[in-house]
Amino acid sequence: MRQTAFPKTFRVKSFGCQMNVYDGERMAELLADQGIAPAPEGEDADLVVLNTCHIREKAAEKVYSDIGRLVKAGGDKPPMIAVAGCVAQAEGEEIMTRAPAVGMVVGPQAYHRLPEMIARAARGERATDTDMPADAKFAALPARRRSAPSAFLTVQEGCDKFCTYCVVPYTRGAEISRPFGDLVSEAEKLVEAGAREITLLGQNVNAWQGEDDAGCSAGLDGLIRTLARIPDLQRIRYTTSHPNDVTDGLIAAHGEVDKLMPYLHLPVQSGSDRVLKAMNRSHTAESYLKLLDRFRAARPDIAISGDFIVGFPGETEAEFEDTLRLVDAVGYAHAFSFKYSPRPGTPAAGMDGQVPREVMDERLQRLQAAIARGQLAFNQASVGKRCTVLVDRRGKLPGQWLGKSPWLQSVFFKGEAAIGDLVEVELAEAGPNSLAGRLLQPAHA
Ligand code: 5AD
Ligand code: SF4
Repeated sequence: MRQTAFPKTFRVKSFGCQMNVYDGERMAELLADQGIAPAPEGEDADLVVLNTCHIREKAAEKVYSDIGRLVKAGGDKPPMIAVAGCVAQAEGEEIMTRAPAVGMVVGPQAYHRLPEMIARAARGERATDTDMPADAKFAALPARRRSAPSAFLTVQEGCDKFCTYCVVPYTRGAEISRPFGDLVSEAEKLVEAGAREITLLGQNVNAWQGEDDAGCSAGLDGLIRTLARIPDLQRIRYTTSHPNDVTDGLIAAHGEVDKLMPYLHLPVQSGSDRVLKAMNRSHTAESYLKLLDRFRAARPDIAISGDFIVGFPGETEAEFEDTLRLVDAVGYAHAFSFKYSPRPGTPAAGMDGQVPREVMDERLQRLQAAIARGQLAFNQASVGKRCTVLVDRRGKLPGQWLGKSPWLQSVFFKGEAAIGDLVEVELAEAGPNSLAGRLLQPAHA
């Protein structure tokens, strides 16, 4: 059944979070370095990497159905299949047993070893690697050579927080920070390769810590201040933050570093203190709101984004209403909301009071309506503002372009521009998910 020739073409399919997008790009660079070419759009690839996500729902089932589809589509010449990402980490052995079509299982901390695994798979040997060697991966990856205008840069991985619903501490392991010097040089390479904006990524990005070139200990704000000195880098963002790792320095940076965009993704998950405690979040709704006040004092126009879970075990109607109240109080510019999904091996999966699916569905709808109201209000309040837009793609209409405002809103406009330009736009009309802009000034030099 299995492909046993060395693959000539590959495709990486990434699911889930931005860190998987980053890992997917790095795997693609690594494979290209081995002389394997990206499969042209619409053509079958000899090697398919499924870069999976385990955070919610029946993630593993989805992987099996994807594998089934690939095998069927391949007919008598099925592709070499690698399962990567967090499902690989969590359920690697089971995948190997249940899916003989899979040649490789590789965890998120081991994908730098893909080349050896592919060579083995080409000899007909199956291989699993879910080791977690701290930091070895990045050193073994090839340098960055191409970049979109907006690039991701993983600075921190793993999580020590152990929220009771979450698999991340198990699939991504303990918190590690990549060294300062490596990050500065990767950022410089990304900028040389075309990046104008870099988003620093980490499961708890604001827990990043390191030593700067002078040997002084630095936090995320120190890293941001250093990266801001790269001349052609125009914008810096970071995600995802945890309320408990916010420092005075990070808040101050929002008022002092022009290149740091006025946007903060700070998940709260629930507006009920009892639920937050059961989630092991170790912050309250009030402490979260106070933190936002401090960010707003430093940068009054900062756009706030968050994550929410509805239907955590034991969540009552009144507790859910606390979440709705918090959403109205914050006025989110953007937020993600999810139905609680019991993850195998996490403490919450065994808690009493699992909430029925219909109740979760109904709560999710109400929460999403509240978030959408806030988002529309935020966009409407932006009308009339002049701002820069980083152009990232063509729009559907001729002469139309799409890009992002400093507040991460999607803005479309007509006129002369190109992908990667940073143009000056007046925001003219607001919808729930995007704004129409008027081009004031074409590209920055
Ligand atoms: N069920 C639902 N949502 C979850 N998240 C994490 N674990 C779960 C789960 N078991 C959500 C949280 C987190 C985001 C990345 O995913 O809101 O912030
Ligand atoms: Fe998961 Fe909580 Fe860590 Fe975020 S902080 S990755 S939700 S355990």
